[in-house]
Amino acid sequence: MAKQLITFTINGKLTESYVDPRESLLDLMRVDLKLTSVKHGCDVGECGACTVMIDGETFDSCIYLAIWADGKTIITTEGLTSLEGEMSDIQQSFVTEGATQCGICTPGFLISSLPIIESDKDFTREEIKKQVSGNFCRCTGYQNIINAIEKTHDKRKAEGLNHK
Ligand code: FES
Ligand code: FES
Repeated sequence: MAKQLITFTINGKLTESYVDPRESLLDLMRVDLKLTSVKHGCDVGECGACTVMIDGETFDSCIYLAIWADGKTIITTEGLTSLEGEMSDIQQSFVTEGATQCGICTPGFLISSLPIIESDKDFTREEIKKQVSGNFCRCTGYQNIINAIEKTHDKRKAEGLNHK
């Protein structure tokens, strides 16, 4: 099938790619763009390992066609680090709280946490759990992940850094 040219912004960088209309955004990111933080898990939209932010909403990139990304703005975990490669506060919090073990699920959880940590609303632990309910972890037991998200949100709020 003929490839089509799409233009999108990913992690702040305007990007052009020729994509097969049947290709998933996950494959475009991992294979063509080498953004390997986005993990290949179930491939059917159930595990959340491939979660990315598209125009401010989280999506499973394994069931999102690459051609749908035309004109969109995408964030992956690579986009959370500073230009010098320093971890963001939520990444550091996952380390400090012991919220990552094998790490396969971690990038998906980090992206799914963005609507929480970027908001100045208050969230219960139940609301945080609901926000990341599409992300599965087979190692950590979830509590440390919820702790990391909750502490990052609360710290940002105390410092006036979350604004939505
Ligand atoms: S790999 Fe996409 S949801 Fe599991
Ligand atoms: S840290 Fe291993 S699956 Fe979550």
